[in-house]
Amino acid sequence: MIDIQNLTKVFNDGSSRVVALEDVSLRVENGEVFGIIGMSGAGKSTLLRCLSVLEKPTTGRVLLDGEDLAALSGGALRCARRKMGVVFQGYNLLMQKTVAENVAFPLKLEKGYDKQAVATRVQELLSLVGLADKASAYPAQLSGGQKQRVAIARALATRPEILLCDEPTSALDPLTTKAMLALLQDINRKLGVTILIITHELAVVKAICGRVAVISDGRLAETGEVTQVFTNPASAETRRLLGREE
Ligand SMILES: Nc1ncnc2c1ncn2[C@@H]1O[C@H](COP(=O)(O)OP(=O)(O)O)[C@@H](O)[C@H]1O
Ligand SMILES: [Mg+2]
Repeated sequence: MIDIQNLTKVFNDGSSRVVALEDVSLRVENGEVFGIIGMSGAGKSTLLRCLSVLEKPTTGRVLLDGEDLAALSGGALRCARRKMGVVFQGYNLLMQKTVAENVAFPLKLEKGYDKQAVATRVQELLSLVGLADKASAYPAQLSGGQKQRVAIARALATRPEILLCDEPTSALDPLTTKAMLALLQDINRKLGVTILIITHELAVVKAICGRVAVISDGRLAETGEVTQVFTNPASAETRRLLGREE
């Protein structure tokens, strides 16, 4: 379970000060498909970077299964990180490496994976995402949707409990988006992986999320069941996203 408590993140580069997140509190339960929606610049990627311990909160805490991520180091931090797979905005694939090598990458740091075990796991992951025949291709030879599938396979390599996805469909056409969402739903249902999707697209949240948090200008505008929030929005930001401006 992810428990975000009063999270504030301020970027201070000398002259300019940006409050990217302000007093955000929310909880993601195990097994959920949870959406975080907001306009560009709302603070979504910053939130994901705080969850994946790439950034430290300025104030507030992020608890993973009750443990304060900012307080962990060494083996305990590695263990917490292993519980979370991250699919970054823009794929972040290694362009000089094959699809199989990209997916194998996180396994190189794991104990208990010899060459054979790595090869078996990579094949299993590529089959899961529907790319069994692309193992020896290079990222440049793949479509956007296929690159995203490689990124998902890589994020799942170490069997995380939670998959964090930053704008997983923003670069994809509607048909590819649909297939991508079906894959994420499959991963949630078949593997029991908790999924947190960050997006600016209403359709993505409506298609697969059970609960949603709406963020606006670094603040939590509202949170609740998707059906509830989108049929009876409590915040001006949600109405704005729905196109029902006041
Ligand atoms: N490393 C950083 N240094 C300074 N400002 C940043 C940094 N990262 C993000 N920001 C700022 O924080 C705000 C939120 O950014 P971001 O989290 O990327 O938004 P989103 O992903 O919702 O589009 C923006 O104003 C952005 O310019
Ligand atoms: Mg972003």
